[in-house]
Formats: sequence, structure tokens, C-alpha cells
Amino acid sequence: MRHPQRGRGGGGCGRGLARGGGGSAGRGRGNGHGRRPGGVKGRERESDGGIIGGSKVLVMPHRHEGVFIAMNIKDVLLTKNLVPGETVDNEKRISVQNEDRTNVEYRVWNPHRSKLAAAINNGIDNIWIKPGVKVLYLGASSGTTVSHVSDIVGSEGCVYAVEHSHISGKGLVTMAKKRTNVVPIIEDARQPSKYRMLVGMVDVIISDVNQPDQAKILAHNASYFLKPGGHFMISIKANTIDATLAAETVYQKEVEKLQMEELRASELLPLEPYEKDHACVFGGYRLPRKHKAATAT
Ligand SMILES: C[S@@+](CC[C@H](N)C(=O)[O-])C[C@H]1O[C@@H](n2cnc3c(N)ncnc32)[C@H](O)[C@@H]1O
Repeated sequence: MRHPQRGRGGGGCGRGLARGGGGSAGRGRGNGHGRRPGGVKGRERESDGGIIGGSKVLVMPHRHEGVFIAMNIKDVLLTKNLVPGETVDNEKRISVQNEDRTNVEYRVWNPHRSKLAAAINNGIDNIWIKPGVKVLYLGASSGTTVSHVSDIVGSEGCVYAVEHSHISGKGLVTMAKKRTNVVPIIEDARQPSKYRMLVGMVDVIISDVNQPDQAKILAHNASYFLKPGGHFMISIKANTIDATLAAETVYQKEVEKLQMEELRASELLPLEPYEKDHACVFGGYRLPRKHKAATAT
């Protein structure tokens, strides 16, 4: 398993509510904007659409497909806004004019508010989420990270977003009214049978439920919805699992629990400085066994 940073510090997308039965972004190592096809210049906007200082922003594709980076201001992470003109969490927007004079709008993705963004900034090798992918998101809250995942997977992809709190769920449902690739599901992620009619097989599960039994919750959902050979990301808050152990020990124990459920970790990444004593684990599900080496004749 890859440990980029050792040590502590650490059913179909479409319309409708599924309910009831059924910062300092550029820091660190993760700004792997490996591809550099001609960047585009734009102006940073406040969420009400006003221009801040009129400064020019150079937007480049990040090495993670569907993620972008604003290079010359603060190297902030961006996603291309699927619903131009709309914000989800009062985030800033950057409007860019292409050479053909069409406009593209990006939304700033704050790593202090999203563990997935924090993982990208901390150098995760592969997020497995890209345009066209189907994602099941457990612990969607009011939809901040879900909305950026929705931007990344785009109109060909889909995000099934599960949240059990009706209060947080309200924001999620409101957000999904404008984002037709998000299916909000107000249910307990411990009971996937209740939403099995709404969710198709997915390529990736993101789990951010912050519960002591979260490995079981992820495994249970994987058994229903995750394609063999699919991938997962789970965030681990050490104190939620066991406050008496060192965070690294907790992470390793969680990795072992996942392994027992055929969820094989490939990367474990602490999320400092964005989240204290948090880590993300990425990996694959029911991965095919490695081919046996050819026997010599
Ligand atoms: C850390 S917050 C998630 C933040 C969110 N992922 C984001 O980045 O915007 C954890 C969320 O999981 C939800 N949650 C906890 N247990 C759950 C369960 N059993 N089923 C569904 N949601 C749950 C909580 O209500 C809370 O909104």
C-alpha cells in the first residue's frame, strides 16, 4: 500500500428526490497539474458574480481528470461548474473566456471543507473519479463535496448521495434540484436495502459518515452496489473509532477491517493540515487476483 505522507500530524441518474422506502489550496504536494495544454485566463468572481480586484487567473487542468487549478493567484483547486451562475456553499467562481469567446465557469474547491480536495492537495495518486463515472456517496451532508464530484463526473456520470439527517438533507435536496446528475437519498447508510431500488451499480463509493462502524457500512453498501474491480475512498477520523489509540494505529486497524471485506487499500493518506487526526484510505473492491507467473517449460 502506498503511504504518500507517513506519520501523524498526523437505478439511474435523473430527476427526483429519493426518500423513504425504497484556503490555502495550492500548498503541499498534490498540485500535480501534469498536463499543460494552453491555459485559459479568466477573472476571479465573488459568489455574487462581482469581480475581485479584476485580477487575471490562469486555469490549467490538474492531473486528475475533471479537476482544474488556478495557477497564478493561489494555485487553488477548481471544478468546472455544471450549473453556471450557481454556487452551493457560497464558494468563489472564476469565469474564463476561451479563444472562441465562449465562457466557462469554475468553482473554487476548498480543501478545508472537503476531504477529497484535501487528499488531492496532499498528493493522492488516483481518486478514481473522472468524467462519466457513477459514484455512491455515503455521508453527503448538505452536498458540498457531492457538488464537486457532480462537476467532475459531469452530465454523463451520476452521484447517488446518501444522508440520514433530514436537516442536512434539505440542503442536499435543494442542490440536487439544479444538478440533474445527483440523486439525493435521505436514508440511513446502514440500510442499503432501503435504497436499492434507486441506486445502480457504481464504479466508486465515497464514504464519509464518521461512524465507529464505518468500515462495515462501506462493506455493506459495496456488497450491494460496487462493481467488482471498482474503487472506494473512506475517510477516517481517528477519535471517532478509538480515542485511546494513536491515530496511525487506528488507521491500520481500519485498513485490516476493510481487507476482511474484500476492500483492499492501495493508498492511505493523512489529511493534515486540513483535518487533524484524519486520514483517507483509497483502494479497490474484489480485485482480480494477480495472474500466476507463467511456468517454465
Ligand atoms: C463529516 S460529515 C460529511 C461531510 C461531507 N462528506 C462533505 O464533504 O461535504 C458526515 C455526514 O455523515 C452523515 N451520516 C452519519 N451517519 C450516517 C448514516 N448512518 N447514514 C447516512 N448518513 C450518515 C452525517 O449526518 C453527516 O452529515
